[in-house]
Amino acid sequence: MEKFRVKDEALASKGHLQIEWATKHMPVLSQIKNRFRKEKLLEGLTVGACLHVTKETAVLMDILLVGGAKLALCGSNPLSTQDDVAAALAEKGVHVFAWRGQTTEEYYWCIDKAIDHGPMITLDDGADLVGTIHSKRTEALPNVKGGTEETTTGVMRLRAMEKTGALKYAIIAVNDAYTKYLFDNRYGTGQSTIDGILRATNILLAGKNFVVCGYGWCARGIAMRAQGMGANVIVTEVNPLRALEAAMNGLRVMPIAEAAAIGDIFVTATGDINVIRKEHMQKMKDGAIIANSGHFNVEISMKNLEELSTSKRAIRPNLDEYALKDGRKLYLLAEGRLVNLAAAEGHPSEVMDMSFANQALCVEHIAKTEKMPPRVYTVPRDIDENVAKLKLKAMEIRIDELTPEQKKYLATWEMGTI
Ligand SMILES: NC(=O)c1ccc[n+]([C@@H]2O[C@H](COP(=O)([O-])OP(=O)(O)OC[C@H]3O[C@@H](n4cnc5c(N)ncnc54)[C@H](O)[C@@H]3O)[C@@H](O)[C@H]2O)c1
Repeated sequence: MEKFRVKDEALASKGHLQIEWATKHMPVLSQIKNRFRKEKLLEGLTVGACLHVTKETAVLMDILLVGGAKLALCGSNPLSTQDDVAAALAEKGVHVFAWRGQTTEEYYWCIDKAIDHGPMITLDDGADLVGTIHSKRTEALPNVKGGTEETTTGVMRLRAMEKTGALKYAIIAVNDAYTKYLFDNRYGTGQSTIDGILRATNILLAGKNFVVCGYGWCARGIAMRAQGMGANVIVTEVNPLRALEAAMNGLRVMPIAEAAAIGDIFVTATGDINVIRKEHMQKMKDGAIIANSGHFNVEISMKNLEELSTSKRAIRPNLDEYALKDGRKLYLLAEGRLVNLAAAEGHPSEVMDMSFANQALCVEHIAKTEKMPPRVYTVPRDIDENVAKLKLKAMEIRIDELTPEQKKYLATWEMGTI
């Protein structure tokens, strides 16, 4: 059986330094690591992970390794692997199959290789690993006890599987933990999406019309950070509550068909398909920049962009120019894949500290739990609260405790106006 496949093993020493830097900014995971090292609860378990192969993921892998697990890892996006980190992980003994710039065939080949190692617990980001195990590799199913899912799109797919009875093992929706989506999706995606756009273009955001498609957790963060840099933020939505929230936050809200004509920069973060398509591209200004931060590269219609264009040129890394038949030029970042991971380094370590603490503790929960019927579960409340407590402790922030009188007051109904 193939042990690992990475771009260049010689990059390992660079990768170790990256992992060291991330570890320094992930104090919650460090606290969990100390306990895992002592308790060795994961001994005898093989964990199969399909995650963005970043320095932060490497810190999570370290913890599972010291907990005693054997690990197989593949990337969760063809463009997001940090090759130096992948090489370092291979040196640490992780069966890693990932490199940056894969074809779709190579991407699924890597997932297959990870499955060959016989995962008993799966960690997924987008549900491609779970999807493959449930379709082409069903012989692997009996070996799997449970799994976790990192992102909104993956949870949506898994809930669809649960609804139709297709889901054959338990999955904990890590994405839906308060200490995940509130910080990772909002502050993580917010900062790193702007980072990706700036690294790819180095344009000034101040004064630009910055269109954010969606106003969910990720999009809220992107809008907030773009506004902070002086951009005029315009939001497009399909959900009236979220649209109203955007309007009350002082943002302009309008249909994408109207925003298309005035936007300088467009970012999708909806988890939906063809949010920016032909009729919108036809209206865009010459020079408009389009990027996506949603999980899959389906939010911007690449097919429509190709159809409208006569030629394409790579201008800078992660910046492609499409020359349209009418002479206008549109600029696409990172091939329409998540711009924060493809053009930058993904979320800052401090944010992934909480997301991956949930992952580590949920792996432990699955390992310890006798039987979990095949359903999509929320993260146990005590895990979510524990992650928040550990993060506060690491940040040296103390909070109040309820007095006995307050506890009683909050649990009764008798006392009203006095
Ligand atoms: N880039 C990253 O690192 C990163 C991190 C976390 C999540 N994600 C991904 O980002 C996407 C969004 O995640 P989220 O947690 O913000 O989801 P969410 O459900 O909180 O928000 C999505 C929003 O998009 C809106 N929407 C749907 N279709 C739309 C359309 N056609 N036009 C305008 N708005 C539309 C929905 O009404 C909703 O408000 C998902 O694909 C998720 O997996 C990416």
